[in-house]
Amino acid sequence: MEVERVQHLAYGPLKELPAQFIRPADERPENTKAVEGVRLPVISLSLPHDLLVKQIAEAASEWGIMLITDHGISPTLISRLQEVGQQFFAIPQKEKEAYANDPSIGRFEGYGTRMTKNDEHKVEWIDYFFHLMSPSSKINYDIWPKNPPSYREVTEEYNKELLRLTDKVLGLMSEGLGLERKALKSSLGGQMLELEMKINMYPPCPQPELALGVEAHTDMSALTLLVPNDVPGLQFWRHDHWVAVDYLKNAILVHVGDQLEVLSNGKYKGVLHRSLVNKERTRMSWAVFVAPPHEAVIGPLPALVNQENPSKFSTKTFAEFRRRKFNKLPQ
Ligand code: SIN
Ligand code: FE2
Repeated sequence: MEVERVQHLAYGPLKELPAQFIRPADERPENTKAVEGVRLPVISLSLPHDLLVKQIAEAASEWGIMLITDHGISPTLISRLQEVGQQFFAIPQKEKEAYANDPSIGRFEGYGTRMTKNDEHKVEWIDYFFHLMSPSSKINYDIWPKNPPSYREVTEEYNKELLRLTDKVLGLMSEGLGLERKALKSSLGGQMLELEMKINMYPPCPQPELALGVEAHTDMSALTLLVPNDVPGLQFWRHDHWVAVDYLKNAILVHVGDQLEVLSNGKYKGVLHRSLVNKERTRMSWAVFVAPPHEAVIGPLPALVNQENPSKFSTKTFAEFRRRKFNKLPQ
């Protein structure tokens, strides 16, 4: 099936934003301006252990979003990750199409663009590349970009680092709930925990004040670990306002996702966020979703539920959670 790519549209003779990208008035950036200059919680992994647990738990419960520094991932690796992603999107359109996904038949991995289902449904100003990165037993390397040739090596290296960081962050967050280190990770499938890479590519947009790169949502994952390029655009919802993220170079931005909110029985908050696009420059971000396998059964951890704290969420498989979320059904 032919899909019109946003990247292709953006570099055509476009002066006005095509109608399917024009958001309803109450979603448009021009009508929903964000607060600037807010400092997100910055969590240094080199802090003494007890202080670190306290800070990370506070950030996860009061913000749902934080920046992690001193994480041990080298700036060179982060730059290489960004380079191979940029290089993939720079290859000829025809070559990229060989990786096209097809969500309508359940093929989610690969090169994608959202399409309109009907006149009412608005689309986002974004193309992306999505693939599984962990566990290795489930990876389909055929769908990973072969161009640039170093894509696989760099991404595998980044995966290794993110597995280590995930372990650390989930351990600290478990302790922040008064549980043992392993609690959250084992509830999320232990060794079968999945890491998924989504490279977001937002080309320059003729009328960014009318469009969204990604509409407001919370992530279905347990955690999302993200690095953007230097074009701002990510915003999150806090105290009845959109807040623009002030990114710190080489930090790892962490979102608390829905599964962590459920497991913690609402102590940790999934953060609502969206991304804006830019008139002149291409924005990119590399989001890694940390999620349980589809068959994992996720509900509030029994140790966190008692008479004073009744269960706030129903218990179900991650597959069922996804089905309801995709179909906009109540959880
Ligand atoms: C997303 O949340 O899906 C995108 C975030 C970003 O590009 O920064
Ligand atoms: Fe997201």
